[in-house]
Formats: sequence, C-alpha cells, structure tokens
Amino acid sequence: MNPPILSIEDLNVSFKTSKGIVRANEGISLEIREGEILGLIGETGCGKTTLGKAILRLLSGKAKLEGKIVYRDTDLLTLPEKEMRCFRGKEIGIMLQNPSACLNPVLSAGRQIAEIYRYHEGMGKKEAEKKAGEMLELVGISSFRGCEYPHQFSGGMLQRVMVAIGLALRPGLLIADEPTKGLDTDTKLQIVELIAGLVRKENSSMLLITHDLELAGRLADRIAVMYAGEIIEIGKAAEIISNPKHPYTLDLLHSLPGKGFRTVPGQPPSLVSPPSGCRYHPRCSFRLEACSQVHPELLGFESERLTRCFLSEMGRIKETAAQPSLNSQPSLNSQPSLNSQSALKCAEEETWHC
Ligand SMILES: Nc1ncnc2c1ncn2[C@@H]1O[C@H](COP(=O)(O)OP(=O)(O)O)[C@@H](O)[C@H]1O
Ligand code: SF4
Ligand SMILES: [Mg+2]
Repeated sequence: MNPPILSIEDLNVSFKTSKGIVRANEGISLEIREGEILGLIGETGCGKTTLGKAILRLLSGKAKLEGKIVYRDTDLLTLPEKEMRCFRGKEIGIMLQNPSACLNPVLSAGRQIAEIYRYHEGMGKKEAEKKAGEMLELVGISSFRGCEYPHQFSGGMLQRVMVAIGLALRPGLLIADEPTKGLDTDTKLQIVELIAGLVRKENSSMLLITHDLELAGRLADRIAVMYAGEIIEIGKAAEIISNPKHPYTLDLLHSLPGKGFRTVPGQPPSLVSPPSGCRYHPRCSFRLEACSQVHPELLGFESERLTRCFLSEMGRIKETAAQPSLNSQPSLNSQPSLNSQSALKCAEEETWHC
C-alpha cells in the first residue's frame, strides 16, 4: 500500500449563516495515497465541495475549520497564508466546479494558463505562452485556440481548459470537483478518461468529487461516500459498487440506470439541524429503533473498509439482513421482510443489551 500524500484528521468545517451554523463537514478523517484516485461521492449539498476547498483553504472568511489536513509532512491548516500560496497549484491543483463561472471571461484561455507559469515559476511572457500552448495540446485543444475567450469554447472544451489549468504545474494531487457536470455522456467519458490518463501518467493522486457513483466506480481506486457532512462508507471502489454495506450507498446504487433507476427516498437533511442519531435514519428502510437516538461511528471490520451503520456493526453475524439483493430494494414506506426483520431485531438485542 502506498503512503498517504494527504491525510485529513477529524476535520470540521462550519459556516455561520443567518439561519444558524451550517456544519458542512463533521469529523472527516481520510487519506489519499500516492498515485491513488479517491472518488468522493454523495448527493448535492452533502459537503463535497466544502471538503475539496477546505484542503486548499479556499473557503470564504465565514468558514471555521478545525482538525488537521496534512500534505506530505505539512499541516496545511497551520501554514501562514503566504506559504499556503506556494501549495496551491504547485503541490495541489484544483479544477473547480462550473468552468464558465471560474474562468475570467475577459482573458483568453491561453493567457489564463500562461499566468500560472508567470506567477509560480517566474517565466517571461513568451516562455509562459509557449508552455500554455503545450498544455492546451496535451488536453486535446489546438494551441492556436489559446487566443480565444471562454465564451468561444463549448462545455467540454472549457472543461479541458480547466484540466490544463489544474495540471499546469504537475501537482502531486489534483482535486477535480464535478468535472463532468452538465456534459453529455460521450463528452463526459472523454473528459474523465483524459483527466485520469494524465493523472496516472504523472503518477499523481486525485480526489475526484462527483455525485456520479458509476463514474467513480469506473475511475477511482477507492470510494468515500459522504452523507450530510459525514463520511458514511469508504473502501475499494469495486467492493463499494459490488457489495455496499451502508443503506445509503445501496440506495445510491439503486438509483443508477442499470440497477433499478429508483431515486433515493426522501430529501437530504438540513446541515443546520441534521437528524439526531444516524443522519440517514429518516430515509433509511432498515432503521432500527436506536438509529434515531444513537450516532453510529465509522468502523471497520475488514481491511480498508469502513462503514457508519449499526447493521454493519452487527452485520458480521447478520450479513444477509444488512444486504438485501439489488432486485428487492425496499421503498421508504415498506418494511424489511419478516426474516430480515427478525434478524435485525435479533441483532439489535444482541448489541443494545451488551
Ligand atoms: N460559503 C458558504 N456559506 C454558507 N454555507 C455554505 C457555504 N458554502 C457551502 N455552504 C453550505 O454547506 C453545505 C455543503 O455545501 P457543498 O460543500 O457545496 O455541497 P456539495 O458540494 O456536496 O453539493 C450546503 O448546505 C451549503 O449551503
Ligand atoms: S444506522 Fe440505522 S438508520 Fe443509519 S443507515 Fe444504518 S440501519 Fe439505517
Ligand atoms: Mg459541489
């Protein structure tokens, strides 16, 4: 197993708003290893972008960050802002969500890439423009188009420009936030294969933020599933897809076109006042009585696999109850089958009485 390039330890990120304190990330601990692609998935509003931006300290002044974010041997959260600037782009690159809003509309694409070389590497104008042209070619855009402005590019091409910006300084870690949002299926595949290909070729690491479980399953080595500000499941991508252990991951899987196309029941909760106990309990078809009262820990029973669910905790002995077949997903209103129910009850008693 490769050593971690980034370790996040017990990270809490909150925003003070007029509606109260939004706890966007709570108790996040995870590692991204050298040469690894980690997929971070979850519904809109669960805190994925906040986590990506927290790593580079790109959140607004209203954000409060606690915990540790260690890149190689440096704790990024304690670095003075001046030193932090050297890490942005050079050590950790980022492709922010929504390229048309991120790119400067009055600067040509080539100029926006060239500025990175001028600022970080002190290159002269000509040399920086040449390097920018090379980056454009690398991402499949003719260098002649470097003089064009963002509005002259299609969505897929703009995303390619973002890839060129994110990878311009050959960072050790790339954070790609929803790099395929709004793209058609063919373009989506081209873009993710381009990014993953370049990241793998450089032996860099990547945090791939997406709400698309299928995409993460195709590209990532491991997947972390996020729900209401918390990591609720993490493990090898193939295992998360083939054998989800958390009911939310299972519901996400069922929402895929080839796996039932059923939307996840209910609505994502407010992060100002999230549900008590397990945050997924109001939407969970397997909830036990204790689920609304006790908050489950993120625990591992197998190497590299962690789950935040009482069923998994008990599932070592009640495996079948925790994993209904993909074809028999219960709806929010339906109850688990009699057998499952008695197994769960049994498991519940075993755990809650000890
Ligand atoms: N700058 C901010 N100020 C206040 N609340 C914010 C800010 N940024 C994000 N949030 C809130 O944090 C929560 C998580 O948002 P976000 O990280 O963007 O989720 P995701 O990327 O998973 O869609 C949301 O409730 C969002 O409204
Ligand atoms: S802890 Fe309970 S409510 Fe939460 S996911 Fe597991 S079974 Fe469902
Ligand atoms: Mg987001």
